[in-house]
Amino acid sequence: MRFLITAGPTREPIDPVRYLSNRSSGKMGYALAEAALAGGHEVTLVSGPVDLPAPPEASTRFVETAQEMFAAVEAEIKRAEVLICCAAVADYRVAEIAGEKIKKSGDSLTLTLVPNPDILGSARSVFGFKGFLVGFAAETEHVVAHAHGKLERKGCDLLVANDVSRSDIGFDRDENEVILIWPDRPLETLALRSKSEIARQLIARIEDSLRD
Ligand code: PMT
Repeated sequence: MRFLITAGPTREPIDPVRYLSNRSSGKMGYALAEAALAGGHEVTLVSGPVDLPAPPEASTRFVETAQEMFAAVEAEIKRAEVLICCAAVADYRVAEIAGEKIKKSGDSLTLTLVPNPDILGSARSVFGFKGFLVGFAAETEHVVAHAHGKLERKGCDLLVANDVSRSDIGFDRDENEVILIWPDRPLETLALRSKSEIARQLIARIEDSLRD
């Protein structure tokens, strides 16, 4: 099968030397790419800036901003049968990027932010994607309820909920523990394991679901 996977953070420039971003390392998304390749699948990886080697057998497109990630997914999605959105995409970007480094002046500085396009939320409604759609949800409270809302709003076949209030899993950790939320099945927890093992289990669940 042909997998399209987003991974890592996005960087939203403020001025020539500063940006808004988050703590995503790309480890979870890259582990998913490796697991899909190990399962004999074709993988296109759309990656934000990370400090990881690209899986040699994947076709990897590097991007910086959410708008660039949106455009890369739009270009690749027609060939994909499975889309996994694991990237931590910035919900907002700076309305106007300063052309020169912003100088310190006064006690406060106000940045106006505008919404970025929602890549996962566009898969069905904008890109017309008919394949198997997997979203992630990084939550710090009401993990299952918030993730369930995302499953429904974004038309996912599977939502992978990540409790990022925990310091031992999630952003920039080598291990993860996730709750799988399906539209028509009971919740399932993939207990604390390396991100490679969690990725292997996730790809196996997706394969099983597509076989059914
Ligand atoms: O990269 P690591 O350090 O290994 O960390 C892994 C992880 C914690 C980043 C990963 O497991 C994870 O939870 N990824 C989702 C991060 C996130 O931003 O979640 P969210 O709840 O804000 O977004 C919900 C979903 O919409 C996600 O599938 C996200 O990729 C997608 N999204 C969000 C905003 C946007 N503009 N476009 C999107 O596609």
